[in-house]
Amino acid sequence: MKLVTVTNYHEISVRAAQLVANQVNKKKNTVLGLATGQTPVGMYQELISMFKRGEVDFFEVVTFNLDEYYGLSSEHPQSYHHFMWDTFFQYINIKKENVHLLNGVTENINKECKQYEYLIQKNGGIDLQILGIGDNGHLGFNEPAIGLNSKTHLVNLAEETIYANSQYFNDVQEVPKQALTMGIGTIMKAQKIILLASGRKKAHVIESTINCPVSSEVPATALQLHNDVIILIDKEAAYKI
Ligand code: F6R
Repeated sequence: MKLVTVTNYHEISVRAAQLVANQVNKKKNTVLGLATGQTPVGMYQELISMFKRGEVDFFEVVTFNLDEYYGLSSEHPQSYHHFMWDTFFQYINIKKENVHLLNGVTENINKECKQYEYLIQKNGGIDLQILGIGDNGHLGFNEPAIGLNSKTHLVNLAEETIYANSQYFNDVQEVPKQALTMGIGTIMKAQKIILLASGRKKAHVIESTINCPVSSEVPATALQLHNDVIILIDKEAAYKI
């Protein structure tokens, strides 16, 4: 794992956007794995600015998002479908048919998950995967104790994840208790991975990700086994290393 520590969140966002743009400029039909949450928002904003300046083009890019709440339709304001269109996709020239997110209201979970894995493979696999990290070490919604070879599947969200994500809902009771997520095994098949983390509250889990033995108790430790991972963090997230 290559550790890159920068000054602040803005610099993480700029660097991450440059890495994504470099990848897309090198391979027009790049397959991107994307994350939601607070951390990548600055990167998406930078990519939108770069797109407007003509520095990157998404016309042939294909995307697969990591996860979606189970029980929320794509129209729900807190769904990750909504988040991605609202934050990023509506501002760039990506083709709607090239955007993939799991269907949170599928009637056949097994089929949905298998189809997602199939589509990733059919598109040639993920070239570059962007990740955030949960305070408990989750990647996507792969909570502690998850199998490190897991594929796309339905998970029960950890109490701390439900609590952390309740900030986006009116009430903690409204937060879905389950989600569909790419597995750790799916994530590990990406050619390149960039993990983003900012702020003191991520310092503990970043230290564990780098220094703890690989264990499903901290799913992000699986990244130690990947041969092309950049951990891009700011000074605050790096203060325990
Ligand atoms: C979201 C996702 C999650 C988040 C993580 C950190 O698609 O995959 O693993 O990356 O919960 O969230 P933030 O960035 O809000 O701290």
